[in-house]
Amino acid sequence: MFLWVCVMIAGLSISGIGFASGDVCLYQECDCQGSYIECQSRNLTSVPKLVSNNTNNTVFTILVLDANRLTKIVSGSLPPNLREISLTLNPIASIDDDAFNQSATTLETLRFDGAHFTRIPDAFLHLHNLKNLYIYNTPIRDWNPNAMRNIGNTIETLFLGSVGLTSWPDWFHDFAHFYNVYLADSSFTSVPDNAFAMSENTLVTLSIINGRLMAVPKSLANHTALKSIHLQDNQITDLTWLPHLSNVSDIDLNFNNISDAGMLSYVLRPYANSLKNLGLVGNQLTVIPDLSYLTQIGSLDFGRNRLSDPNSGVMPSNVYALSFAFNWLPSIPRVYRHLTGVTELFMPSNLVTQIQGSDFLPLIMFVLLENNLISELTDDSFPLNSSIISVNLNNNPIVKISAQALSSIPRLRELRLQQSKLTRLPLFLASLNHIFVFDISNSTDLVCTCEEKSLQMWILSLPPEDVLGNCGDTSVYNFFTTLSQSCPTQ
Ligand SMILES: *[C@@H]1O[C@H](CO)[C@@H](O)[C@H](O)[C@H]1NC(C)=O
Ligand SMILES: *[C@@H]1O[C@H](CO)[C@@H](O)[C@H](O)[C@H]1NC(C)=O
Ligand SMILES: *[C@@H]1O[C@H](CO)[C@@H](O)[C@H](O)[C@H]1NC(C)=O
Ligand SMILES: *[C@@H]1O[C@H](CO)[C@@H](O)[C@H](O)[C@H]1NC(C)=O
Ligand SMILES: *[C@@H]1O[C@H](CO)[C@@H](O)[C@H](O)[C@H]1NC(C)=O
Ligand SMILES: *[C@@H]1O[C@H](CO)[C@@H](O)[C@H](O)[C@H]1NC(C)=O
Ligand SMILES: *[C@@H]1O[C@H](CO)[C@@H](O)[C@H](O)[C@H]1NC(C)=O
Ligand SMILES: *[C@@H]1O[C@H](CO)[C@@H](O)[C@H](O)[C@H]1NC(C)=O
Ligand SMILES: *[C@@H]1O[C@H](CO)[C@@H](O)[C@H](O)[C@H]1NC(C)=O
Repeated sequence: MFLWVCVMIAGLSISGIGFASGDVCLYQECDCQGSYIECQSRNLTSVPKLVSNNTNNTVFTILVLDANRLTKIVSGSLPPNLREISLTLNPIASIDDDAFNQSATTLETLRFDGAHFTRIPDAFLHLHNLKNLYIYNTPIRDWNPNAMRNIGNTIETLFLGSVGLTSWPDWFHDFAHFYNVYLADSSFTSVPDNAFAMSENTLVTLSIINGRLMAVPKSLANHTALKSIHLQDNQITDLTWLPHLSNVSDIDLNFNNISDAGMLSYVLRPYANSLKNLGLVGNQLTVIPDLSYLTQIGSLDFGRNRLSDPNSGVMPSNVYALSFAFNWLPSIPRVYRHLTGVTELFMPSNLVTQIQGSDFLPLIMFVLLENNLISELTDDSFPLNSSIISVNLNNNPIVKISAQALSSIPRLRELRLQQSKLTRLPLFLASLNHIFVFDISNSTDLVCTCEEKSLQMWILSLPPEDVLGNCGDTSVYNFFTTLSQSCPTQ
């Protein structure tokens, strides 16, 4: 759906503006503009009656009938010489065999979404130049192989999403000019070895999304032109057949079943100088792979794996964004010690019990460690003279913060300690001159006493709305504005 929207926007943006002045619109109910006959969202139950023929075939070539209530397309209802017909969001149940005849040699693009036909229309048998076919949310049971083979002679882009593909279709083999193939929400578990054989040197983008694949299709092994491979939301374990001759720039393997970091590291080697985007979120990796050779990668997200070895892996040196959210890491991974471009330590929801200043570089500015198991901050927890401006330790069982723990982060502006186990406010907070957000909310063991009165000036220098949390029955801010007044002066 998302891709389709992009395609539509791209399509509209080139439509141009301004009326083709002097031309009568071919349908009274529609607007003709540029090359478009625009009949979108008009509550039409049938294609309107043609009031004029398209006498000048350089003019109206794109017919948009999206979002109406059309149930059928009958012969002779469409103007001749169309290049593109968009019929998305219509419950089209039947298309006359000859419906597209007048555009048989010109029609390049055809779109359906939410159609009701269950058999690929015979009208496709008469198309000689169809290059782009998009069908979404249409319960096709009979693929009419002859019709599909016919368009297979010319099709370059094929998008099929939620069309009820339960096994790999035979007609697929005959498509010889594939450039972009997108198959979503299908339930086949494997793809024949010869599936893409005919488009080995033409296929550039392949997406098989939200399916049941367990391996990268072997049929990709010898492809030479592939640049983008999207296989997210399958159950892929085996990566053996990623194409070793292609200069691939994008691989999306998010939400699969990849556990073998060694294999991953091996199969991506051919893309050392081409791979720019790699999606590995939601797999089963337990060790961080060695991806050091991927020179074009700037950002890597290992979220929602099972990483538990903090000493594993090597990251490409150009990485500037790295995420380890939702893993099982017991400490900050070693890879952070070498990445001079990374400014964010992003590892919420791990099993970190302790942090050490030597684990990461002073260049880090944001420390995101919420939902871990850190119970104590010591004098050595942060690098000396570090650039940290924000520390989020929400939902860590922190019982103790040493007096010097935060003195090595002179630029700290934001400190979050929600749900800590602190019982008292640390007195050294008063020396944090740049803080303006202090959040200790839901720290249920926290009490404020007259012993913390020395924090009064500090607390009152902060914006009231940025001091969050209660001690006992009163808010921390309130304690220092009112109750602590009655404490004896020190
Ligand atoms: C669409 O047409 C039907 C009758 O064909 C009418 O009941 C309905 O109100 C119309 N809807 C809009 C939005 O015009
Ligand atoms: C379109 O052209 C055909 C044949 O030239 C003619 O019979 C028909 O009446 C024309 N239709 C309109 C709406 O002008
Ligand atoms: C056809 O369309 C083009 C472009 O709008 C225009 O320049 C030309 O005069 C038109 N020809 C006729 C016969 O209408
Ligand atoms: C439509 O095209 C097909 C194939 O060229 C042809 O057999 C058929 O007669 C045409 N139908 C009409 C109404 O022209
Ligand atoms: C790839 O090419 C090699 C060598 O030509 C051949 O042996 C192998 O069968 C091909 N694999 C596929 C999946 O086409
Ligand atoms: C891949 O890129 C390299 C280096 O840019 C180039 O020499 C090679 O021909 C490319 N291979 C393909 C299959 O495009
Ligand atoms: C994931 O892969 C493992 C083998 O590596 C296998 O045992 C398991 O069944 C797979 N899980 C799914 C959901 O496919
Ligand atoms: C920290 O910074 C201060 C002032 O910029 C400098 O004097 C000191 O040497 C630095 N210490 C370290 C360990 O880099
Ligand atoms: C504090 O905890 C309560 C109940 O668990 C929750 O509803 C609330 O959002 C929490 N507040 C903050 C600031 O985390």
